[in-house]
Order: sequence, then structure tokens, then C-alpha cells
Amino acid sequence: MKYAENILETIGNTPLVKLNKLTAELPCLVLAKYETFNPGNSVKDRMALQIVEDAEAAGILKPGGTIVEGTSGNTGMGLALAAIVKGYNLICVISDKQSKEKVDILKAMGSEVHVCPTDVEPDDPRSYYSTARRLAKEIPGAWYVNQYDNPSNTKAHFLSTGPEIWEQTDGKITHFVVGVGTGGTISGVGKFLKSKNPDIKIWGVDTYGSVFKKFHETGIFDKGEIYPYVTEGIGEDILPKNVNFDIIDGFTKVTDKDAAFYTQRLAREEGFFLGNSAGAAIKGVLQLKEHFAKDDVVVVLFHDHGSRYVGKMFNDDWMREKGFIE
Ligand SMILES: Cc1ncc(COP(=O)(O)O)c(C=O)c1O
Repeated sequence: MKYAENILETIGNTPLVKLNKLTAELPCLVLAKYETFNPGNSVKDRMALQIVEDAEAAGILKPGGTIVEGTSGNTGMGLALAAIVKGYNLICVISDKQSKEKVDILKAMGSEVHVCPTDVEPDDPRSYYSTARRLAKEIPGAWYVNQYDNPSNTKAHFLSTGPEIWEQTDGKITHFVVGVGTGGTISGVGKFLKSKNPDIKIWGVDTYGSVFKKFHETGIFDKGEIYPYVTEGIGEDILPKNVNFDIIDGFTKVTDKDAAFYTQRLAREEGFFLGNSAGAAIKGVLQLKEHFAKDDVVVVLFHDHGSRYVGKMFNDDWMREKGFIE
């Protein structure tokens, strides 16, 4: 018999799937690292498990303890899987711009959920960063994960996602393109791939309203770049320690409208039912067209599943309300 001992053992080893229609205008092969095959339906299962196991090994997380995290939803789902199997309590702090589905899913998985306002400064006591920190201090036996600065986030992708992509492409990958939030995915995968072949180009996809692109190009953290935006999971108003700017060759910014529209196109033209950071990522690939040549192998990573966005990008009333369609 062949079976996993528990749900955590099914994390990773996701497929690589060729894009056919959306990328027809590009000269090269474009492959999607399709992370919704993880049991929590997102790439974040990988780092959630790594972070919990590293905290256990370091004696920070004790049996029966409470895990506290600020999350856009997907990390919370990964932490919920680890908490359930390993016997921890979970408190997720989420900002109010995230989809209702994400809050409901976390509650369904037994997490306590606190919803905080999005449009406040990161150091405002009401922000989701500050609330997570405060709860972890107040609750006995609680531990704040801090996916932004926790090195186990990058480590998870250095140890699993990066090697999988290298092996699945037979070492032929030339470019890796991915949305950047905490930076764990791009930094872990990018560091691994560059350790195998320093010529591989690593591109980050950023949003309008986020500080990453300008910081990478100028070294300036420009608060003027920060304003509310719709795309979920990518872009930041802080510089997380997990974003390793040195291994990133460049950023491209994608608008909210394009991200939403291309999320719909992925579903309707490729049969890829994904979240809107995937729409941003594939539009980012198309924007980088001039960087690709005939024999290149471009891998784009898709973070999460479309079911989390049925009330948003997959709802025409919502699309109209945001001014994304007529
Ligand atoms: C939907 C989605 N896309 C992209 C990202 C960005 O990934 P990373 O935090 O590894 O940079 C996240 C992170 O939470 C996410 O949830």
C-alpha cells in the first residue's frame, strides 16, 4: 500500500504545467509551477510546515502552544494544517481587504480569526502586524510566526520548491518569474536556482501601491509609492527580511485591473482556476516579453486557488464595481 501518514506528508511535489494559449505571443516555453496542488491549495503550506518544525526544534513552540500569525489567508491555511496534525492552537490576524472566503476557510479549519483595518500604518496598534504581535505577547504559551522576517520561510523554498523546479526542468530553466509578498518564495527558489546556475534570471512581480520595485531600482524606501490596492498576496508597504533584493534581477509592476482580467483569462483559456496573484504573475511574464529568446524555459509560479476569489475576480458584479469591466 502507498499512502501518506498524515496530510502534511502530501505537501510539495506539485506539477509543472505548460501554458499554451495565453503565452502564444512569446518565443519560448512557459511552464507554471502549479502550487494549488498542495493540500491547503497554496504554496504557503510549504513554509508554514517548515516554520512550525523549525520552531519546535528550537524549543520556541512547546506542546499544546498557540501559534499566532498575521496572514493574507494562505499562510493561515498552511499553519492550520500543521496545528491540527501536531496539536497546537491557532490564531490568525487578517486584514479586511482579504476575501471573505479566506476568513471563512480559516474558521472552518478551527482557527480563531481577528480582522483588522488595511488602511492604517504598519506600526498603528490597529494594523494586522501590531495586533498579531500584541496577541502573541498577551497570551501565555503563544508564539508569533512573523512570516515576513522568519528565515524558515525562505528556507522552505530553498529546500523544496527550488530543487523541484530544477529537477522538473532538467536544469534547463532560464528565467523564474513570481509575485513577491513576504519574499520567501522568490528568495528561496532564486537562491537555489542561482546556486545551480548563476545565469538564471529571477524576476519579481510587484503591484502598484507597493514599495518593492522602486526600492530595488534606487535603494529608496519611498512612502509615496504606498496606497491601497486590490491584488492579494503580493506587494508590501514594508521591507520584509525575507525579500533578498540581491538575488532578484528586476521587478515588473502589474495593475489591479490586469491582474483581475488575466486571472479570468487563465481560467477560461487554460483551465487554470487560480487566485489573482497568478493573474498578476502571468501578465508580468507577458510584460517581460523582450527578455525572452526562442530556447528559453520560463517558469512562473502560481500561488493559490480560484475558489478563494469566487466573490471577487470571478464575479462580474464585483469586477464592474471596481471598474475592471464595462
Ligand atoms: C496569493 C499569494 N500570492 C503571492 C504571495 C507571495 O508569496 P511570498 O510571500 O512567498 O512572497 C502570497 C503570500 O502570502 C499569496 O498568498
